[in-house]
Amino acid sequence: MIEDKRWEKVYSFEDSPFIMEILTQLRDKNTGSIAFRKGLVKLGRYMAYEITKTMETETVKVETPLEETEGIIVKDRRNVVIVTVLRAAIPLMEGLIKVFEHARVGIVSAVRGKAPKFEIEMDYVKIPQIKPEDTVIVADPMIATGSTLTKVLEEVKKYGEPKRTIVVGVLAAPEGITKIKSKFPDVEIFVAKIDRELDDKGYILPGLGDAGDRAFGEPLKLTTLPQVHYIE
Ligand code: URA
Repeated sequence: MIEDKRWEKVYSFEDSPFIMEILTQLRDKNTGSIAFRKGLVKLGRYMAYEITKTMETETVKVETPLEETEGIIVKDRRNVVIVTVLRAAIPLMEGLIKVFEHARVGIVSAVRGKAPKFEIEMDYVKIPQIKPEDTVIVADPMIATGSTLTKVLEEVKKYGEPKRTIVVGVLAAPEGITKIKSKFPDVEIFVAKIDRELDDKGYILPGLGDAGDRAFGEPLKLTTLPQVHYIE
């Protein structure tokens, strides 16, 4: 885990060859949706494992079959709220929850409109109560313009004041990180890698394409469906 010098509390996993290998597979345009989803689950799991290294622990006594000794529990692991930003974060959340198995889970939908405005529509919001001892982990694989996450973080704030708020993603563009950090300086950001830039459509370069489409296939536009006539 490396802290990026351009911002505070922004970390990437470029020092982890295994995480970089999974990212390379996700970037590859020939990786199909099954392998893509599996890659996101793996990344969620390994990034969660890395995040536990930053969590508070407590010394406990444990009885082995032979004698008593000291051990630890990762206290904060028990107080996690994962907020999943539909849709590409679903497999990432599946990985995170393998490590944070006690997590309460919030789900929000956020659809980004077209350039240049990139307006965000949030139709579905289900977030549990957030307590002072909680670590909130907002899972969104692609931190591009930062507009979606800014809106999601504003919404999350309404549900309580946590101990820590963390954003977990696969890739981030510097523009997106700067936007989030300007509005939420205390939010910690963990991504596999920080990429070069955004293109004029808001895609991350070199990136991995549309993470939702790659994981779940391209959605059909309803207007292209044939008309259905119901007979009473
Ligand atoms: N969302 C994606 O899925 N990919 C990008 O490159 C940017 C936003």
